[in-house]
Amino acid sequence: MLPGCKHEPPVPPELVDDGGGNGGGDTTTVNPDPCDPDTVYFQNTVLPLLVSYCAGTGCHDAITHEDGVRLYDYAHIMQQVTPGDPADSDLWDKGIAETGGDAMPPPDQPQLTSQQEQAIYTWIMQGAQNNECLGCDTTNVTYNGTIKPLFQSKCNGCHSGSSPDGNLDLSQYSVSNTIAMDGRLAGSVQHLTSYNAMPPSGGMLPNCEIDQILIWIQDGAPNN
Ligand code: HEC
Repeated sequence: MLPGCKHEPPVPPELVDDGGGNGGGDTTTVNPDPCDPDTVYFQNTVLPLLVSYCAGTGCHDAITHEDGVRLYDYAHIMQQVTPGDPADSDLWDKGIAETGGDAMPPPDQPQLTSQQEQAIYTWIMQGAQNNECLGCDTTNVTYNGTIKPLFQSKCNGCHSGSSPDGNLDLSQYSVSNTIAMDGRLAGSVQHLTSYNAMPPSGGMLPNCEIDQILIWIQDGAPNN
């Protein structure tokens, strides 16, 4: 490699291998099953939504834990959940299903879509297990098919709305392209030093999703 100061994204030459990562924070499941479309998985869907939409700075994170509610890992989340019974689960009944001034997330914050709410409801109905599946494809990575939905479920609870964290609205393609090309995206999701680690809690993204992001960056972060 030539020395120099070209503004190339600092993507390491080799993509992250699947050996040593923490796979989204739960190291107990070594080889998750393929995803069953009728099952909602905690590690794949529920935890990222709660971390992004509920456990942001000043809310239900480790530091603030508003109302004593911590929504960034399975053990703490289960303090608000009765498996199989959403109506008896504070997470659902006093949180997501609440309306008016007590609605969660608060009305001035980025909101869960009804589809995302439904996923959390279904997960509680299905027994609220700490489950995980393998459903990540690195063969056909596009912005609209891969990156945008990934950001929607794992980043935009903090990175969208009227005052997005880090002043980065990742529901915008242009912003996503900017952080892809200036190195911040690769740096933050790989937890490289001198970048803020993203997501900030709930564990690193699964290696396969980090690979998807790096592939998109190496392609030039196109709007495809
Ligand atoms: C719980 C809230 C939260 C979530 C979820 C989150 N971020 Fe952030 N992000 C922040 C905050 C807050 C900052 C501002 C930096 C800081 O103070 O840590 C930030 C900063 C950043 C930065 C700038 C980092 C730097 O070093 O300059 C990038 C890039 C970023 N986030 C990308 C992401 C991506 C991609 C995701 C999803 C995979 C994500 N974030 C998920 C809260 C969040």
